Amino acid sequence: FQPKLLSGKRVLVTAGPTAERVDPVRVISNRSSGKTGYAIARAAREAGADITLISGPTALPCPYGVKRINVESAREMHAHVLGQAHNADIFISVAAVADWHISNASEQKLKKTDKNGPQPPHIAFAPNPDILAEVAALKDGPWCVGFAAETENLHEYAQAKRQRKNIPLLVGNLAQEAMDADTTTFVLFDQNGHQDLPLLPKQQAARELIHAIANRLSDRA
Ligand code: C5P
Repeated sequence: FQPKLLSGKRVLVTAGPTAERVDPVRVISNRSSGKTGYAIARAAREAGADITLISGPTALPCPYGVKRINVESAREMHAHVLGQAHNADIFISVAAVADWHISNASEQKLKKTDKNGPQPPHIAFAPNPDILAEVAALKDGPWCVGFAAETENLHEYAQAKRQRKNIPLLVGNLAQEAMDADTTTFVLFDQNGHQDLPLLPKQQAARELIHAIANRLSDRA
């Protein structure tokens, strides 16, 4: 009997974009289909883990056997993640979290024009919490995996981001390659350097990542 790679592990995953309200009918968001995060949740479930997926707005169905919590904004995602983090062994932060929310969001739908003509709104931004950095800083928190979608200088930016967020593993990919696509090229960054995976369907890349996580956890044990 071969136990599954992540049997008995509790894995918390964030996926998708967050959406920040301008008014009740308008949002500002990040581009993210959620495909990579959902594929990772599915792969972790296949590996025997117990999964909670905290998802921003996507068009994807909830993977089989995964508990999903739907959120809209980064601050909502933050509240749910921090609420669950102490019950997780592994946190995989895949969501494309908006860096800002709108501090002067309107309760009512903004009117496009008034008697003086077109009235484009003056939108004020305020920073969102960095969910991953906060979870990484928890005492006795989960083992953290971050993501970095970059458009250039991937190796340099991703390794720096891993160190800045103080996490053991960060997955880099090129935004222009992975965005909306069904394939992706992962580069795994850890304290020893980096490992390039080939271009793979996202579900297969997700399985490779789950292997890489399980190997690192067993090395640590
Ligand atoms: O800070 P940056 O967006 O460059 O880092 C990306 C990583 O940090 C991703 O893993 C993302 O899910 C996470 N993140 C977060 N909260 C934020 C911004 C990014 O958890 N506010």
